[in-house]
Amino acid sequence: MRALRNIFAATLFLVGAAVLSLASAARAEDGAGRTPAPHPPRAQGEHCVADTAFMRRNHMLMMFDHRKEAVHQGVRTPQFSLAGCVSCHAVKGEDGKPVSFASEKHFCRSCHSYAAVQIDCFECHASRPEAPKQAVDAGGADIDKLAAYLRETKQ
Ligand code: HEC
Ligand code: HEC
Ligand code: HEC
Repeated sequence: MRALRNIFAATLFLVGAAVLSLASAARAEDGAGRTPAPHPPRAQGEHCVADTAFMRRNHMLMMFDHRKEAVHQGVRTPQFSLAGCVSCHAVKGEDGKPVSFASEKHFCRSCHSYAAVQIDCFECHASRPEAPKQAVDAGGADIDKLAAYLRETKQ
C-alpha cells in the first residue's frame, strides 16, 4: 500500500515537473531576445484615441472607416484624424525636431518595418505635426527652393 502511494506521489511529481518545464519553454518562445520585437516609441498624452490594445490591432480598420466617412460622407471626427495620430505620436530626431516618415524612427514605421507592411498614406498626408509656418523666400523666382520646401513639408 505504501509502495503504491509512493509511486502515485512520484508520478504526480513527474507530471508537475513536465508541466512546469513546458510552461517555461512557452515563455521563452515569446520572450524577448529570440526574435526582434517592435518597440513603438512612447506617445504624448495619457491615452490613445481608443484603448491601446484595440489600437494595436485595429488602427488600420479604424482609419479606413474614418477616411470613408470623411471623404465620401463628409463626416469629420477630428479625434481620428491622421494629423492627430502623427501629432501625439511624434518622435524627435537628433535635431530635436519631429522626424518624418522618411526616418526609420517614425512611429508608424516602428511596427510596419517589422511586419513588412507598406502604407502610402504619407505620400499625401503630413507625417509629422504641422511645421511652424516658415517664411518661404518669395522674393524672386526661387522655384527650386519652394519645391524643396513643399517636398519637405509633405513628408
Ligand atoms: C492624444 C494623443 C494620441 C492621439 C491623438 C493618438 N494616439 Fe495612439 N497612443 C497614444 C498613447 C498615450 C498610447 C499608449 C502607448 C504609448 O504610451 O505609447 C497610444 C498607443 C497607440 C498604438 C499602440 C502602440 C503600442 O505601443 O503598441 C497605436 C498603434 C496607436 N496608438 C495608433 C494611433 C493612431 C493610428 C492614431 C490616429 C488615429 C493615434 N494613435 C492617435 C496617444 C495618442
Ligand atoms: C493620393 C493622396 C492620398 C493618399 C495616398 C491617402 N490619402 Fe487620405 N486623404 C486624401 C485627401 C485629399 C483627403 C481629403 C482631404 C482632407 O480631409 O484632408 C483625405 C482624407 C483622409 C482622412 C480624413 C481626414 C483626416 O485626416 O481626418 C483620413 C483619416 C485619411 N485620409 C487616411 C488615410 C490613410 C490611412 C491613408 C493610407 C492608407 C491615406 N489616407 C492615403 C488623400 C490621400
Ligand atoms: C503596434 C504596431 C504598429 C504601429 C505603431 C502602427 N501600425 Fe499600422 N499596422 C500594424 C500591423 C501589424 C499591420 C498589418 C495588419 C494586418 O495585415 O492585418 C498594420 C497595418 C496598417 C495599415 C493597413 C495597411 C494595408 O494596406 O492593409 C495602415 C493603413 C496602417 N497600419 C497605418 C498606420 C499608421 C498611420 C500608423 C502610425 C500613426 C501605424 N499604422 C502604426 C502595426 C502597427
